[in-house]
Amino acid sequence: MTAKLDIWGLSKSFGDLEVLKDISFKIKDQELVAIVGPSGCGKTTLLRMIAGIETPDGGGISIDGKALKGPGPDRGFVFQQDSLFPWRTVWQNAVLGLEIDGKLDSERVARTRELLKLVGLSKFEKYYPNQISGGMRQRVNLARALAIDPKVLIMDEPFSALDAQTREIMQLELMRIWQEGRKTVLFITHQIDEAVFLADRIVVLGRRPGWVRETIDIDLPRPRPLSVKRTPEFGAYVDRVWNLIERDVYASVQEDIEATAP
Ligand SMILES: Nc1ncnc2c1ncn2[C@@H]1O[C@H](COP(=O)(O)OP(=O)(O)OP(=O)(O)O)[C@@H](O)[C@H]1O
Ligand SMILES: [Mg+2]
Repeated sequence: MTAKLDIWGLSKSFGDLEVLKDISFKIKDQELVAIVGPSGCGKTTLLRMIAGIETPDGGGISIDGKALKGPGPDRGFVFQQDSLFPWRTVWQNAVLGLEIDGKLDSERVARTRELLKLVGLSKFEKYYPNQISGGMRQRVNLARALAIDPKVLIMDEPFSALDAQTREIMQLELMRIWQEGRKTVLFITHQIDEAVFLADRIVVLGRRPGWVRETIDIDLPRPRPLSVKRTPEFGAYVDRVWNLIERDVYASVQEDIEATAP
């Protein structure tokens, strides 16, 4: 079976700075994969290459066996900072991607309505971003990414700006949407527990330059209620990922100390 998303031998430098080195992994159809790694290891750069807005120096990316050439509606994105336009209502923001693609027909209008309902925002279609909460804004971002019906949904730390409780609600929301729509999802996060909770598989990146340190299958049964986070199995996965990343975190702190030493 061809992988939904296939990344092979990807490398990238910015001038003298080697950011990613020989990154390879595959994502199966309808799989939910999380990427974790220390700050600055190149996660966003990797995502920008998958988006087609940054070109790799070596290696390549393909979707359904076809090599990627630039941006396209087969991929939906949710970025870390909410990217809603303040002068557009919730509805106008949700249909933005469809508008850009020139595909705002009655069927897609109806589907976007359904999506806003799914994320609990039906009553807020006429509101402006500054009239709704941060969690609601991220749900608009999610609805907008899904409205174009992408094959692959890609998210860069989408919940990091949210408080702990809202984040948990959004995790459940994402899991529900993923289960109902059965999308292929690539999810970047700093929160190890978030990665373990959501993912079928976690790709752990190492730093300087970014490389695939390890890939871990998360064999926790689904559906996963929030209470799974209190089980020993869950804790063991979190420890395992943290042990892999810990060394890098200390190394980066050490590097900063040395860089500032007189
Ligand atoms: N356009 C660019 N020009 C030069 N350097 C860049 C550019 N984009 C990223 N970098 C550098 O590449 C490295 C990786 O950045 P990137 O944003 O991909 O990291 P990250 O893993 O997403 O970090 P974080 O977890 O903090 O979001 C950083 O050192 C950054 O300064
Ligand atoms: Mg980043």
